[in-house]
Amino acid sequence: MHKVFVTHQLPGERIHALCQQSDMNVWLGPGLLPGAALRKELSDADGVVCLLTDRIDRALLEMLPKLRFISSMSVGVDHIDLTAATERGIPVGHTPGVLVETTADTTFALLMAASRRVVEADRFIRQGHWTPDNAWSPDFFVGKDIAGATLGIVGLGAIGTAVAQRASGFGMQVLGWNRSPRDVPDVTRVSLEDLLARSDFVVITVALSDDTRNLINADRIALMKSDAVLVNTARGGIVDEEALASALAGRRLLAAGIDVFSREPAAQDNPLLTLPNVVLTPHIGSATAATRRRMADMAVDNALAALSGERMPHCANA
Ligand code: DGY
Repeated sequence: MHKVFVTHQLPGERIHALCQQSDMNVWLGPGLLPGAALRKELSDADGVVCLLTDRIDRALLEMLPKLRFISSMSVGVDHIDLTAATERGIPVGHTPGVLVETTADTTFALLMAASRRVVEADRFIRQGHWTPDNAWSPDFFVGKDIAGATLGIVGLGAIGTAVAQRASGFGMQVLGWNRSPRDVPDVTRVSLEDLLARSDFVVITVALSDDTRNLINADRIALMKSDAVLVNTARGGIVDEEALASALAGRRLLAAGIDVFSREPAAQDNPLLTLPNVVLTPHIGSATAATRRRMADMAVDNALAALSGERMPHCANA
Protein backbone atom coordinates (compact mmCIF):
# COMPACT_ATOMS: atom_id res chain seq x y z
CA MET A 1 0.00 0.00 0.00
CA HIS A 2 1.13 3.54 -0.74
CA LYS A 3 2.19 5.64 2.23
CA VAL A 4 0.29 8.90 2.66
CA PHE A 5 1.05 11.47 5.31
CA VAL A 6 -1.71 13.83 6.46
CA THR A 7 -0.32 16.86 8.27
CA HIS A 8 -3.35 17.50 10.48
CA GLN A 9 -6.51 15.74 11.58
CA LEU A 10 -9.15 16.58 8.99
CA PRO A 11 -12.91 17.04 9.22
CA GLY A 12 -15.27 15.50 6.65
CA GLU A 13 -16.13 11.97 5.63
CA ARG A 14 -13.77 11.19 2.78
CA ILE A 15 -10.75 10.81 5.04
CA HIS A 16 -12.06 7.33 5.96
CA ALA A 17 -11.72 6.26 2.31
CA LEU A 18 -8.11 7.48 2.28
CA CYS A 19 -7.45 5.53 5.47
CA GLN A 20 -8.78 2.35 3.80
CA GLN A 21 -6.99 2.84 0.51
CA SER A 22 -3.53 3.78 1.77
CA ASP A 23 -1.08 3.30 4.57
CA MET A 24 -2.11 6.61 6.15
CA ASN A 25 -0.32 8.38 8.95
CA VAL A 26 -1.75 11.55 10.53
CA TRP A 27 0.07 14.23 12.55
CA LEU A 28 -1.91 14.56 15.77
CA GLY A 29 -0.41 17.80 16.94
CA PRO A 30 -0.62 19.76 19.07
CA GLY A 31 -0.28 22.93 16.99
CA LEU A 32 1.68 23.44 13.82
CA LEU A 33 3.70 20.62 12.38
CA PRO A 34 7.38 21.69 12.65
CA GLY A 35 9.34 21.73 9.38
CA ALA A 36 11.79 19.08 10.62
CA ALA A 37 8.91 16.72 11.47
CA LEU A 38 7.34 17.31 8.04
CA ARG A 39 10.66 16.44 6.39
CA LYS A 40 11.00 13.28 8.46
CA GLU A 41 7.42 12.14 7.89
CA LEU A 42 7.63 12.73 4.15
CA SER A 43 10.97 10.98 3.68
CA ASP A 44 9.29 7.70 2.74
CA ALA A 45 5.81 8.98 1.80
CA ASP A 46 4.23 8.56 -1.64
CA GLY A 47 1.88 11.44 -1.04
CA VAL A 48 0.94 14.18 1.37
CA VAL A 49 -2.30 15.88 2.30
CA CYS A 50 -1.25 19.19 3.80
CA LEU A 51 -2.52 22.56 5.01
CA LEU A 52 -1.54 26.09 4.00
CA THR A 53 0.68 26.20 7.10
CA ASP A 54 2.98 23.48 5.70
CA ARG A 55 5.78 24.95 3.62
CA ILE A 56 6.81 22.62 0.81
CA ASP A 57 9.62 24.38 -0.99
CA ARG A 58 12.18 23.29 -3.58
CA ALA A 59 14.77 22.32 -0.95
CA LEU A 60 12.28 19.99 0.72
CA LEU A 61 11.11 18.50 -2.57
CA GLU A 62 14.74 17.75 -3.48
CA MET A 63 14.93 15.54 -0.39
CA LEU A 64 11.82 13.58 -1.35
CA PRO A 65 12.49 11.51 -4.48
CA LYS A 66 9.65 9.13 -3.61
CA LEU A 67 6.90 11.76 -3.32
CA ARG A 68 4.28 11.36 -6.09
CA PHE A 69 1.59 13.86 -5.11
CA ILE A 70 0.73 16.80 -2.89
CA SER A 71 -2.84 17.66 -1.99
CA SER A 72 -3.43 20.85 -0.04
CA MET A 73 -6.62 21.60 1.88
CA SER A 74 -6.59 25.18 0.60
CA VAL A 75 -7.32 27.06 -2.58
CA GLY A 76 -4.09 29.05 -2.28
CA VAL A 77 -0.91 27.14 -3.05
CA ASP A 78 1.70 29.81 -2.38
CA HIS A 79 3.11 27.61 0.44
CA ILE A 80 4.17 25.07 -2.19
CA ASP A 81 6.85 25.59 -4.84
CA LEU A 82 4.63 24.82 -7.84
CA THR A 83 7.47 25.18 -10.33
CA ALA A 84 9.65 22.70 -8.48
CA ALA A 85 6.73 20.29 -8.07
CA THR A 86 5.86 20.54 -11.77
CA GLU A 87 9.48 19.93 -12.79
CA ARG A 88 9.33 16.69 -10.80
CA GLY A 89 5.97 15.68 -12.29
CA ILE A 90 4.27 16.01 -8.90
CA PRO A 91 0.63 17.11 -9.18
CA VAL A 92 -0.50 19.64 -6.57
CA GLY A 93 -4.15 19.41 -5.60
CA HIS A 94 -6.11 22.31 -4.12
CA THR A 95 -9.68 23.21 -3.17
CA PRO A 96 -11.16 25.94 -5.38
CA GLY A 97 -14.85 26.81 -5.40
CA VAL A 98 -16.00 25.38 -2.08
CA LEU A 99 -14.79 28.27 0.08
CA VAL A 100 -15.87 31.11 -2.19
CA GLU A 101 -19.09 32.20 -0.47
CA THR A 102 -17.68 31.75 3.03
CA THR A 103 -14.62 33.85 2.24
CA ALA A 104 -16.75 36.52 0.56
CA ASP A 105 -18.87 36.65 3.73
CA THR A 106 -15.74 37.12 5.84
CA THR A 107 -14.56 39.86 3.51
CA PHE A 108 -17.84 41.71 3.94
CA ALA A 109 -17.84 41.10 7.70
CA LEU A 110 -14.42 42.78 7.95
CA LEU A 111 -15.47 45.60 5.65
CA MET A 112 -18.50 46.34 7.81
CA ALA A 113 -16.75 45.85 11.15
CA ALA A 114 -13.86 48.14 10.16
CA SER A 115 -16.00 50.90 8.66
CA ARG A 116 -18.56 50.91 11.49
CA ARG A 117 -15.95 50.42 14.25
CA VAL A 118 -17.73 47.37 15.63
CA VAL A 119 -14.75 45.85 17.46
CA GLU A 120 -13.58 49.18 18.87
CA ALA A 121 -17.12 49.85 20.16
CA ASP A 122 -17.38 46.38 21.70
CA ARG A 123 -14.08 46.92 23.51
CA PHE A 124 -15.26 50.35 24.69
CA ILE A 125 -18.25 48.86 26.51
CA ARG A 126 -16.39 45.85 27.95
CA GLN A 127 -13.63 48.09 29.31
CA GLY A 128 -16.21 50.14 31.20
CA HIS A 129 -15.80 53.36 29.20
CA TRP A 130 -19.52 53.77 28.40
CA THR A 131 -20.41 56.12 31.23
CA PRO A 132 -22.62 59.22 31.52
CA ASP A 133 -19.52 61.32 30.83
CA ASN A 134 -18.82 59.32 27.73
CA ALA A 135 -22.28 58.68 26.31
CA TRP A 136 -24.21 58.97 23.06
CA SER A 137 -23.46 62.19 21.24
CA PRO A 138 -23.61 63.28 17.59
CA ASP A 139 -20.02 62.24 16.94
CA PHE A 140 -20.07 59.12 19.12
CA PHE A 141 -18.35 56.26 17.24
CA VAL A 142 -19.13 57.70 13.84
CA GLY A 143 -17.96 55.58 10.94
CA LYS A 144 -18.38 55.43 7.21
CA ASP A 145 -21.42 54.56 5.08
CA ILE A 146 -21.30 51.43 2.97
CA ALA A 147 -24.57 51.83 1.04
CA GLY A 148 -24.00 53.73 -2.18
CA ALA A 149 -20.20 53.85 -1.75
CA THR A 150 -17.63 52.75 -4.34
CA LEU A 151 -16.02 49.36 -3.80
CA GLY A 152 -12.78 48.39 -5.56
CA ILE A 153 -12.04 44.69 -5.89
CA VAL A 154 -8.41 43.75 -6.52
CA GLY A 155 -8.68 40.30 -8.12
CA LEU A 156 -11.83 39.29 -9.98
CA GLY A 157 -11.67 35.56 -9.39
CA ALA A 158 -14.48 33.57 -7.80
CA ILE A 159 -14.14 35.25 -4.39
CA GLY A 160 -13.91 38.74 -5.88
CA THR A 161 -17.00 38.00 -7.96
CA ALA A 162 -18.89 36.79 -4.87
CA VAL A 163 -17.89 39.99 -3.04
CA ALA A 164 -19.24 42.02 -5.99
CA GLN A 165 -22.57 40.19 -5.72
CA ARG A 166 -22.84 41.13 -2.06
CA ALA A 167 -21.93 44.74 -2.87
CA SER A 168 -24.84 45.04 -5.29
CA GLY A 169 -27.20 44.42 -2.37
CA PHE A 170 -25.72 47.50 -0.71
CA GLY A 171 -26.20 49.61 -3.84
CA MET A 172 -22.45 50.01 -4.21
CA GLN A 173 -20.73 51.01 -7.41
CA VAL A 174 -18.15 48.28 -8.04
CA LEU A 175 -14.77 48.74 -9.73
CA GLY A 176 -12.54 45.77 -10.44
CA TRP A 177 -8.97 45.05 -11.41
CA ASN A 178 -7.62 41.72 -12.54
CA ARG A 179 -4.24 40.68 -13.90
CA SER A 180 -5.84 38.96 -16.89
CA PRO A 181 -8.94 40.24 -18.72
CA ARG A 182 -12.08 39.04 -16.97
CA ASP A 183 -15.57 40.49 -17.19
CA VAL A 184 -17.81 40.26 -14.16
CA PRO A 185 -21.44 41.49 -14.33
CA ASP A 186 -21.95 44.96 -12.81
CA VAL A 187 -18.22 45.45 -12.25
CA THR A 188 -16.44 48.24 -14.14
CA ARG A 189 -12.90 47.18 -14.97
CA VAL A 190 -10.30 49.89 -14.41
CA SER A 191 -6.54 50.13 -13.91
CA LEU A 192 -5.23 49.34 -10.42
CA GLU A 193 -4.21 52.97 -9.92
CA ASP A 194 -7.66 54.20 -10.93
CA LEU A 195 -9.33 51.68 -8.65
CA LEU A 196 -7.24 52.76 -5.65
CA ALA A 197 -7.86 56.45 -6.29
CA ARG A 198 -11.63 56.15 -6.77
CA SER A 199 -12.68 53.54 -4.20
CA ASP A 200 -14.12 54.16 -0.75
CA PHE A 201 -13.48 50.51 0.08
CA VAL A 202 -10.72 48.37 -1.41
CA VAL A 203 -10.80 44.61 -0.95
CA ILE A 204 -7.93 42.31 -1.85
CA THR A 205 -9.02 38.96 -3.28
CA VAL A 206 -6.16 38.24 -5.68
CA ALA A 207 -3.92 35.17 -5.29
CA LEU A 208 -0.36 35.64 -4.01
CA SER A 209 2.27 35.05 -6.69
CA ASP A 210 5.55 36.64 -7.73
CA ASP A 211 3.43 39.17 -9.69
CA THR A 212 1.26 40.21 -6.76
CA ARG A 213 3.74 40.15 -3.88
CA ASN A 214 3.77 43.66 -2.33
CA LEU A 215 1.26 44.79 -4.95
CA ILE A 216 -0.27 47.21 -2.45
CA ASN A 217 2.92 49.04 -1.52
CA ALA A 218 3.50 52.51 -0.04
CA ASP A 219 3.18 54.26 -3.42
CA ARG A 220 -0.13 52.57 -4.18
CA ILE A 221 -1.48 53.12 -0.66
CA ALA A 222 -0.69 56.81 -1.16
CA LEU A 223 -3.12 56.85 -4.11
CA MET A 224 -6.04 55.84 -1.89
CA LYS A 225 -8.58 58.26 -0.45
CA SER A 226 -7.73 59.37 3.09
CA ASP A 227 -11.07 58.01 4.33
CA ALA A 228 -10.81 54.71 2.48
CA VAL A 229 -11.05 51.29 4.14
CA LEU A 230 -8.82 48.41 3.03
CA VAL A 231 -9.75 44.76 3.55
CA ASN A 232 -7.40 41.84 2.88
CA THR A 233 -8.68 38.25 2.97
CA ALA A 234 -6.26 36.92 0.33
CA ARG A 235 -2.64 36.69 1.53
CA GLY A 236 -0.57 38.96 3.76
CA GLY A 237 2.31 39.17 1.30
CA ILE A 238 0.18 41.18 -1.15
CA VAL A 239 0.06 44.24 1.13
CA ASP A 240 3.12 46.01 2.56
CA GLU A 241 2.15 45.81 6.25
CA GLU A 242 4.61 48.50 7.41
CA ALA A 243 3.31 50.95 4.81
CA LEU A 244 -0.30 50.11 5.64
CA ALA A 245 0.28 50.53 9.38
CA SER A 246 2.01 53.85 8.85
CA ALA A 247 -0.87 55.14 6.65
CA LEU A 248 -3.44 54.02 9.23
CA ALA A 249 -1.50 55.53 12.13
CA GLY A 250 -1.16 58.84 10.24
CA ARG A 251 -4.88 58.76 9.34
CA ARG A 252 -3.99 58.70 5.65
CA LEU A 253 -6.44 55.78 5.54
CA LEU A 254 -9.54 55.47 7.69
CA ALA A 255 -9.45 51.80 8.68
CA ALA A 256 -8.56 48.26 7.67
CA GLY A 257 -9.84 44.73 8.09
CA ILE A 258 -7.03 42.20 7.95
CA ASP A 259 -7.44 38.43 7.97
CA VAL A 260 -4.05 37.47 6.55
CA PHE A 261 -0.49 38.40 7.46
CA SER A 262 2.94 38.28 5.85
CA ARG A 263 3.96 35.97 8.67
CA GLU A 264 1.42 33.69 10.34
CA PRO A 265 0.81 33.43 13.22
CA ALA A 266 1.26 37.22 13.23
CA ALA A 267 4.26 38.42 15.25
CA GLN A 268 3.40 40.35 18.40
CA ASP A 269 5.49 43.28 17.12
CA ASN A 270 3.51 43.52 13.87
CA PRO A 271 2.67 47.25 13.76
CA LEU A 272 -0.95 46.54 12.76
CA LEU A 273 -1.60 45.01 16.19
CA THR A 274 -1.32 48.33 18.01
CA LEU A 275 -3.78 50.30 15.88
CA PRO A 276 -7.37 50.90 17.04
CA ASN A 277 -8.62 51.42 13.48
CA VAL A 278 -7.76 47.89 12.32
CA VAL A 279 -9.96 44.84 12.77
CA LEU A 280 -7.80 41.73 12.88
CA THR A 281 -8.77 38.09 12.42
CA PRO A 282 -6.38 35.09 12.32
CA HIS A 283 -6.85 33.81 8.73
CA ILE A 284 -10.44 32.66 9.24
CA GLY A 285 -11.78 33.52 5.78
CA SER A 286 -13.03 30.00 5.08
CA ALA A 287 -13.73 29.07 8.68
CA THR A 288 -17.20 27.58 8.82
CA ALA A 289 -17.71 23.96 9.76
CA ALA A 290 -19.46 23.11 6.48
CA THR A 291 -16.84 24.78 4.30
CA ARG A 292 -13.95 23.19 6.15
CA ARG A 293 -15.60 19.77 5.68
CA ARG A 294 -16.00 20.44 1.96
CA MET A 295 -12.37 21.56 1.68
CA ALA A 296 -11.13 18.45 3.49
CA ASP A 297 -13.26 16.13 1.36
CA MET A 298 -12.00 17.80 -1.80
CA ALA A 299 -8.37 17.52 -0.67
CA VAL A 300 -8.90 13.83 0.06
CA ASP A 301 -10.58 13.26 -3.32
CA ASN A 302 -7.55 14.82 -5.00
CA ALA A 303 -5.30 12.45 -3.05
CA LEU A 304 -7.45 9.41 -3.87
CA ALA A 305 -7.34 10.24 -7.58
CA ALA A 306 -3.55 10.56 -7.49
CA LEU A 307 -3.24 7.29 -5.58
CA SER A 308 -5.15 5.47 -8.30
CA GLY A 309 -3.05 7.05 -11.02
CA GLU A 310 -5.83 9.35 -12.22
CA ARG A 311 -5.73 13.07 -12.80
CA MET A 312 -6.66 15.04 -9.68
CA PRO A 313 -10.09 16.65 -10.08
CA HIS A 314 -8.63 19.96 -8.89
CA CYS A 315 -4.98 20.28 -9.79
CA ALA A 316 -3.14 23.61 -9.46
CA ASN A 317 -0.27 22.69 -11.78
CA ALA A 318 -2.15 20.99 -14.60
C1 DGY B 1 -7.17 29.04 1.28
O1 DGY B 1 -7.76 27.97 1.16
O2 DGY B 1 -6.20 29.32 0.58
C2 DGY B 1 -7.69 30.01 2.27
O3 DGY B 1 -6.78 31.00 2.55
C3 DGY B 1 -8.13 29.29 3.53
O4 DGY B 1 -8.98 30.16 4.22
